[in-house]
Amino acid sequence: MKIAVCPGSFDPLTNGHVDIINRAAMVFDKVIVAVLHNPNKKPLFTMEEREKMIKESLENLPNVEVESFSGLLVDYARQRGACAIVRGLRAVSDFEIELMQASVNRKLAPEVETIYMMTSNDFSFLSSSVVKEVASFNGDVTCMVPKVVAKKLAEKFGK
Ligand code: PNS
Repeated sequence: MKIAVCPGSFDPLTNGHVDIINRAAMVFDKVIVAVLHNPNKKPLFTMEEREKMIKESLENLPNVEVESFSGLLVDYARQRGACAIVRGLRAVSDFEIELMQASVNRKLAPEVETIYMMTSNDFSFLSSSVVKEVASFNGDVTCMVPKVVAKKLAEKFGK
């Protein structure tokens, strides 16, 4: 069974993430959406909130699971028997950091391949940070995130 990990902070999940996860789910037998627990960052949404929103948004995909992880991504991927890490690439600006991360991960675990999917043009401008900024100023994010996320953002920002 070919298992892939789709890692990220997902604070919160966007339609760009959903696009990549959907496409990964068509290529791999099983996809694990791995939500990073980073004690050095203060996310807008708690781990429980992020996991719940992702599960709800992806419930139509039977071969996708959602879990949290901490520590090294490659350790987690090995522990879950994954042969690949799947990430989305939006623009050249993503490339530098992604190249660094993929290179470090390959040094640490050469058997875990990192695969990049080009983000669909519709979502190339999208990031969790942009979504949070727009939502914080009461902007309309309904075309940027799944329904449940838009609802949660409105609650968070007291709308
Ligand atoms: O959604 P993000 O914040 O761009 O995701 C970044 C993520 C989770 C892929 C990255 O921060 C990560 O893999 N963190 C785990 C720590 C790790 O393995 N570091 C080594 C690679 S530099």
